[in-house]
Amino acid sequence: MIYLKTDEEVELMRQSNDLLGRTFGELAKEIKPGITTAYLDKIAYEFIKDNGGIPSCLGYEGFPATLCTSVNEQVVHGIPSEKVVLKDGDIISIDSCILLNGFHSDSAYTFPVGEVDEKVLRLMKVTKESLYIGVSNAINGHRLGDLSASIQQHCEANGYSVVREFVGHGIGRDMHEEPEVPNYGKKGYGIKLQSGMVLAIEPMVCLGKRQVMVEKDGWTARTVDRLPAAHYELSVCVRNGEADILSTFDYIQSVLKERFI
Ligand code: MF3
Ligand code: CO
Repeated sequence: MIYLKTDEEVELMRQSNDLLGRTFGELAKEIKPGITTAYLDKIAYEFIKDNGGIPSCLGYEGFPATLCTSVNEQVVHGIPSEKVVLKDGDIISIDSCILLNGFHSDSAYTFPVGEVDEKVLRLMKVTKESLYIGVSNAINGHRLGDLSASIQQHCEANGYSVVREFVGHGIGRDMHEEPEVPNYGKKGYGIKLQSGMVLAIEPMVCLGKRQVMVEKDGWTARTVDRLPAAHYELSVCVRNGEADILSTFDYIQSVLKERFI
């Protein structure tokens, strides 16, 4: 069952996403060599609580934190830890969800830590571009496969591979609603997108091979070849002609300035 959101519900979801965007802005101020992922988690937890939100990853199917923090070869669902100290040249994907107004927001961003290798910066840039290409296809009347294929095409044309085991999803009163939104697929296939559908689009893209495995902690997914992966996510509402992007990277951008890539 796919729940179409009313205009009022979309506005409530935008507020939830705005708080998530502001949380990312707070994190962007702190990301530098020497800090731990547990420290980032604490900042996010407190900021979300102070602003009336509920960190909805925390406790989700037993996940133990507010943020998923995935460093370098970790793709998604990394667990924040005092033992993970960021170092110059790392990249870190931060993914989180907030429940506010009865609706979940979901967004992710991959941040550079200090000076990052050109090759890896390019992976990040192409992954983010592929997200926006997917978003540009989140329009009324298009097929889900058009959206999925457009992401895959851009990543593969640039020499990267796309993770298959994890996908985007519908979002609303539940964090994960129908439909699944794969980052690979065939143009012309899949359900017809309709105005009012809210989708979390989240390409996970690898510098090397696309195979991933889950670590012994039961959560952290990493590339088998241990080459880096990037991950960006926005929650968007399908509309006629142009998707309405509910999440925002604006707060990250105003902190990172020329380092925003
Ligand atoms: N934010 C993730 C997503 O994109 C969900 C994380 S659930 C958690 O779907 F339990 F891992 F936090
Ligand atoms: Co998601």
